[in-house]
Amino acid sequence: MPADVIIGGQWGDEGKGKIVDLLASKYSAVVRFSGGNNAGHTVINDLGEFKLHLIPSGILHDNVTCIIGNGCVIDPKVLLYEIDKLKDVGIKVSPKNLMISDKAHIILPRHIEKDSEQEKARGDFKIGTTGRGIGPAYMDKVARSGHRMENIAEWPEWEEKLGGHITSTQKLLRDLLDKDENVLLEGAQGALLDIDHGSYPFVTSSNSTIGGALTGTGLVPSDIRDTIGIFKAYATRVGEGPFPSEIEKSNPVAKHLLEKGHEFGTTTGRERRCGWFDIESAKHSIMTNGFNKIAIMKLDVLDGIKEIKVLNNIDNKIKYDTLSGWDQSTIGIKDYSDLPENAKKYLNYLEKELEIKIDIISTGPKRDQTISN
Ligand code: IMP
Repeated sequence: MPADVIIGGQWGDEGKGKIVDLLASKYSAVVRFSGGNNAGHTVINDLGEFKLHLIPSGILHDNVTCIIGNGCVIDPKVLLYEIDKLKDVGIKVSPKNLMISDKAHIILPRHIEKDSEQEKARGDFKIGTTGRGIGPAYMDKVARSGHRMENIAEWPEWEEKLGGHITSTQKLLRDLLDKDENVLLEGAQGALLDIDHGSYPFVTSSNSTIGGALTGTGLVPSDIRDTIGIFKAYATRVGEGPFPSEIEKSNPVAKHLLEKGHEFGTTTGRERRCGWFDIESAKHSIMTNGFNKIAIMKLDVLDGIKEIKVLNNIDNKIKYDTLSGWDQSTIGIKDYSDLPENAKKYLNYLEKELEIKIDIISTGPKRDQTISN
């Protein structure tokens, strides 16, 4: 049976955590394949509100095996803290439902120090990293001087608590798929932050796109069924780097998106830069990942905006299309037919321009505030 993949179509923070949580019960395993605790996936469901950085968002479901794949970098201190926080609220986390790849690399305190030194040295050209040591840990991996989770015996206090979780997750996944089980691969960051296909050098240090889903787990192309792209109904970016459809911070629409969308980083608390949906960037993500399904998140955040713009460059010429907004609230709408006509027109416009069908529309942070086909 197949593996499906969830990937952010923009610069991260699209709402992947909600979709993984929504779909997780249909899968035997949920797997992180890239990045580390630079990610921050917020999940709000019947059990409460959770901010997960390393542990796959499937942990909130019984009977789902969560896997941190070989493509990830792991700060053991952060992982132990996250496990403890989940246990504190009664969520079971044990070597039975959380497995860590023996090949994932360890983030050490020196990587975190180096991250901050590098950012200082970059001066005006800083990347605006999350400061979690991600880049330096991947640098050591590529330089072939890193430490993998299989070496954790060198740190007895970590080995004591995490040792039982470490295994060959590639083999585990192979066995699950060969036994006809379904597997969900949970992307981190977004396609436009990919080390190869993103806005280099203002990117993260791993492949957050579909290729990373394979190398970061050890699965093969024929394992993949759906590749689901997650997009916000507008756009945000944290940290530095180009953002063609950015709205000036002083513009009331930027304030509306920031406040109504709670656009503050889950990991760093930083204010996110806000802007309009960008067709060209979205098409680049669709091409890079081969999305066959997409979700449009946070539609409700656009409620009350008079005119909705979309960056739709033609032949490299900057061009905005303007669509009429809607006054009615879309919060919690579960049935497409209940959406305001102008919201439907906006979604139809996106489908037409992106040449892809929208499968899921999110109308609020909770699991059931969703329209799905
Ligand atoms: P790093 O991954 O900490 O090295 O940061 C590199 C760039 O990716 C910075 O612009 C970060 O703000 C951005 N970034 C990293 N992780 C995330 C994420 O999960 N969401 C949004 N942006 C992220």
